[in-house]
Amino acid sequence: MTIDVNKIREDFPILKEKIYGKPLVYFDNAATTQKPQVVIDKLIEVYTKYNSNIHRGVHYMSNKATTETENARNIIQKFINAKHSYEIIFARGATEGINLIAYSFAEKHLKEGDEIIVSELEHHSNMVPWKMVAERKRANVIKWAFNDNGDLELDELKKLITPKTKLIAVNHVSNSLGTINPVKEIIEIAHQNNIQILIDGAQAVQHIKVDVQALDCDYYVFSAHKIYGPTGIGVVYGKEALLDELPPYQGGGEMIESVSFEEITYNKLPFKFEAGTPNYADTIAFAEAIKYVSAIGIDNIAAYEAELLAYGEEKLKTIPGLKIIGTAKHKASVISFNIDGLHSYDVGMILDKMGIAVRTGTHCTEPIMLRYGISGTVRASFAFYNTKEEIDLLYKGLLKVVEMFA
Ligand code: ALA
Repeated sequence: MTIDVNKIREDFPILKEKIYGKPLVYFDNAATTQKPQVVIDKLIEVYTKYNSNIHRGVHYMSNKATTETENARNIIQKFINAKHSYEIIFARGATEGINLIAYSFAEKHLKEGDEIIVSELEHHSNMVPWKMVAERKRANVIKWAFNDNGDLELDELKKLITPKTKLIAVNHVSNSLGTINPVKEIIEIAHQNNIQILIDGAQAVQHIKVDVQALDCDYYVFSAHKIYGPTGIGVVYGKEALLDELPPYQGGGEMIESVSFEEITYNKLPFKFEAGTPNYADTIAFAEAIKYVSAIGIDNIAAYEAELLAYGEEKLKTIPGLKIIGTAKHKASVISFNIDGLHSYDVGMILDKMGIAVRTGTHCTEPIMLRYGISGTVRASFAFYNTKEEIDLLYKGLLKVVEMFA
């Protein structure tokens, strides 16, 4: 099956919007993706037909909302091929997911002098939580540097591993450079050395078929809003045996089994990690997004996005003074670039006036910018509803920007 992009675009109402009277060209998909009508409809359905707090009621609506939420968990389990549905924990997003694992992992496993290896390619969300827990436990975060192209090298990782290494944290796909990391090999190296590993999949699940059992990863996190679902909901996958030995992250709500002032016992998975009223409405709509992309097929999406990336890179490279930042061997559909003598904000602001939405700045990856000695980049990130014609508009827009500043 090839992508019928015109048909797909009909599913996303926002793509018909005009910005300053011009058709929207949305190239900020790495920050958040747009939502198909089925996801929007599902949210309306929950709030108009059976909105009710889950897991606590005996009445019809509470049962319905609970069943839909647990169905969503099953759909997400199948999507990433987790062994058990209770290995899927809902959190606010990838960031909260990493904070959850970092906190609980540190409580259980981290001692003074221990080491956590974190790649230099990480979003702050997969670096700051590890720095925070390391500080609390007097442990150390060790940087795994990337090379000039934006690739992580496995030999470099091997050199960093010591008997004190307790965990490796790395993303599957870099949000700023688009690098696709060899996570299978990284996981193998971790396990050969008896080290646990967390993969930040926030920029991967929407582009690459992920099978957590085939990868054999210990923890894998991602956010719904980057895969065409609602904001405020995301997933922490963890192997049952590993999650079982971690203490809870937050207290309250369904995470308990019993409570007295003398003793508290905790609920089983996944509820042990889901304190407070769960975000059931967004969870239920999230499952619609997963069904939607699964029907199109992640492999079809990946093939089409690879075409957009190749087309975009070829065109943009011909713009005078434009330099692509991040030229890794394998890339997702992200082009980060700068134009000689121009600040990324100025480029982004002028493109905006043409109706073209790109992201500018550090993309929450200041260590990457420091490594390249730049203040930021302009980032165009493509989704499967984007077209080559839209890339042509970006190309023409950038030529105009260059002309204006000449
Ligand atoms: N993590 C998001 C990005 O890369 C916000 O833009």
